[in-house]
Amino acid sequence: MGSFGMLAKRALLTDTPVMVQIQELMRGVKDYVSLAQGVVYWQPPKQALEKVQQLVWEPVISRYGADEGLPELREALLKKLQQENNLHRSSVMVTAGANQAFVNIVLTLCDAGDSVVMFAPYYFNSYMSFQMTGVTDILVGPGDPKTLHPDADWLERTLKDTKPTPKLVTVVNPGNPSGTYIPQPLLQRISDLCRDAGCWLVVDNTYEYFMYDGLKHVCLEADHIVNIFSFSKAYGMMGWRVGYVSDVMFDKNFKCFGQEKSSLCFCFA
Ligand SMILES: Cc1ncc(COP(=O)(O)O)c(C=O)c1O
Repeated sequence: MGSFGMLAKRALLTDTPVMVQIQELMRGVKDYVSLAQGVVYWQPPKQALEKVQQLVWEPVISRYGADEGLPELREALLKKLQQENNLHRSSVMVTAGANQAFVNIVLTLCDAGDSVVMFAPYYFNSYMSFQMTGVTDILVGPGDPKTLHPDADWLERTLKDTKPTPKLVTVVNPGNPSGTYIPQPLLQRISDLCRDAGCWLVVDNTYEYFMYDGLKHVCLEADHIVNIFSFSKAYGMMGWRVGYVSDVMFDKNFKCFGQEKSSLCFCFA
């Protein structure tokens, strides 16, 4: 008996996205405000829209691009990473959004049996990315009940007590759905704990520009840190699917990342 028609267990065991669950709840309901999805109300910058109008006729736009992204874009992003994010040793690779970046990072860094760490309340898509790539040993740490910041004391205990050591810890900064910013000393402590335990720290900076009360967003740079960014929110480019990853060990580790990426998706950016 063949298995035509049967789905992979990985796919079956992956959660339904919360957006789909909320859409079902909203069906037939009037006068609601959905806070389910981070969709901004503004249009992309005028210059981007005008440039696309010109570029769309260029044959090169419809061809396969470089796996790492257009050299001109990568150069501009490197400048941005240095000037705005204080990341001076990192290289950059363009992806089809921050979500693709996260899946590729998991595929590049994790094996199916590895354990990984995230914090409640977590970004549902990261959880699903682990599930759909077969990384099912997902340790979810608590957030502080008042600030919703990741509990670094729990992380310290968990990294010490879990054998083998978790492969990767991920945080979103500022958080989705918490909205809270992880202050630099706490981010630094989380980073130091990861470094000392020998595990990767993946920081999703999709909301880097969504800072309030005079706070300034900060990124950290170290061999064990991978930073993710997105064009979707700040520039209202959700459907354009442009994000990027920066990493110090790019040339060493991210050759594999490029292979994973090119076999999964080509991105025109
Ligand atoms: C924390 C976080 N990361 C990534 C994304 C998706 O980014 P992108 O559109 O670049 O894939 C979202 C979108 O809601 C998000 O909230």
